[in-house]
Amino acid sequence: MTGNNRAAVSNGNKSVPFYEIKNLSIPSVPKGKVLVKAIAYAFNPTDWKHPVYGMTPEGAVLGSDFSGIVEAVGSEVEGLAKGDYVSGWAHGGYEKDIGGFQDWVLADPPLVIKFDKSQLDQSKVEPVGDSESRVIDNFEGAASVTLGLSTIAMSFTNQLKLKVNEPSYRDQYILIWGGATASGVLAIQVAKDIYGLKVITTASPRNNAFLKSLGADHIVNYNDKDVIEKIRKIGGGKIHFALDTISSLETFQLVYDATAGTNEGTVAIDNLLLLNPEEIKTDKSRTNLKFGKTLAYVANGEPTVFAGIPVAPDADLAADYGNFWYNILPGYLPKLRHSNLKVLNPGLESVHEGLSLLMDNKVSGEKVVFRADN
Ligand SMILES: NC(=O)c1ccc[n+]([C@@H]2O[C@H](COP(=O)([O-])OP(=O)(O)OC[C@H]3O[C@@H](n4cnc5c(N)ncnc54)[C@H](OP(=O)(O)O)[C@@H]3O)[C@@H](O)[C@H]2O)c1
Repeated sequence: MTGNNRAAVSNGNKSVPFYEIKNLSIPSVPKGKVLVKAIAYAFNPTDWKHPVYGMTPEGAVLGSDFSGIVEAVGSEVEGLAKGDYVSGWAHGGYEKDIGGFQDWVLADPPLVIKFDKSQLDQSKVEPVGDSESRVIDNFEGAASVTLGLSTIAMSFTNQLKLKVNEPSYRDQYILIWGGATASGVLAIQVAKDIYGLKVITTASPRNNAFLKSLGADHIVNYNDKDVIEKIRKIGGGKIHFALDTISSLETFQLVYDATAGTNEGTVAIDNLLLLNPEEIKTDKSRTNLKFGKTLAYVANGEPTVFAGIPVAPDADLAADYGNFWYNILPGYLPKLRHSNLKVLNPGLESVHEGLSLLMDNKVSGEKVVFRADN
């Protein structure tokens, strides 16, 4: 295929400006991948962290989340066809030519969601500015959820080992630290609606009404001095699962302390930045704990290296993730709601503004998105 393929391409710098808009050739399609003509994109913290932390080689394309229309499928790909409406994500900023912020994106099928065409309206463009729309009914909304959903799918199925239709969950809690993060917004809904758990989450009070509407049973302000005591009191010794979506050393410790009242049964704790149990400073005598570490970059079944740490996928992970992705998620998509959208001007020129908003911590309970202008 010939034509333009504009892309946000790394120049190898660790500080701004760390990319330029360049014209690449449209990729040919390897046998296991799909080629998508992008319609919309969403930003994730990883999009700036990779270059700033020195993980991005010159020539890599920045960006992860995108949505669009399948143009071509590799000979070994099943379940996707030219013309499908999809969202997907790529491990952007990591290897040459790969990444979400380009006109034509190569995607791994396990990182792609196929939407029913009746759900996504191609003509419905989310207007520039702050948008309170929530259901996924256009390509901006679709772009905003995919990396987050892969992350939650891996965490819940493979690290926390949650089971569908488990009656005991009706009386058990999951603690989702950081309910207003992009990951948290999705985790609350999946925990509540798909697994039937009771949800305690932490967030700034301005996000309470939204998180409540998603199904959070209890929301505690993480800036409260007695945040741990409050969570333990609500949990009443029944917090059996926890996901730390922030995963700083401080929040990892707080999550550990908040679950300390659960003495009967096990407590599974997962985090998103490869933190190890050795980082915990208090009461290491608890014996009923299982620690997890979720890294979405291996959801495509391929090994990777993150921050110098090799991470390998395994057959269990592929089976757990695949079951959720292909058998459970599709039926839930019409109900799922996304974060508030902050819509930037169309075109890759908005990459700078989007990355700056995330780097400067100016995003609260929302997802920054923009539309392709081609
Ligand atoms: N391992 C993986 O595969 C994986 C995948 C995705 C993301 N991540 C990582 O996970 C982290 C979250 O990413 P994201 O995109 O979900 O986040 P995000 O949407 O960028 O998070 C923004 C939100 O963080 C909340 N927040 C900040 N500090 C907090 C604290 N101390 N306690 C509770 N909430 C706090 C704020 O909530 P309020 O507005 O309520 O204050 C804010 O709305 C990032 O470090 C990202 O790199 C890892």
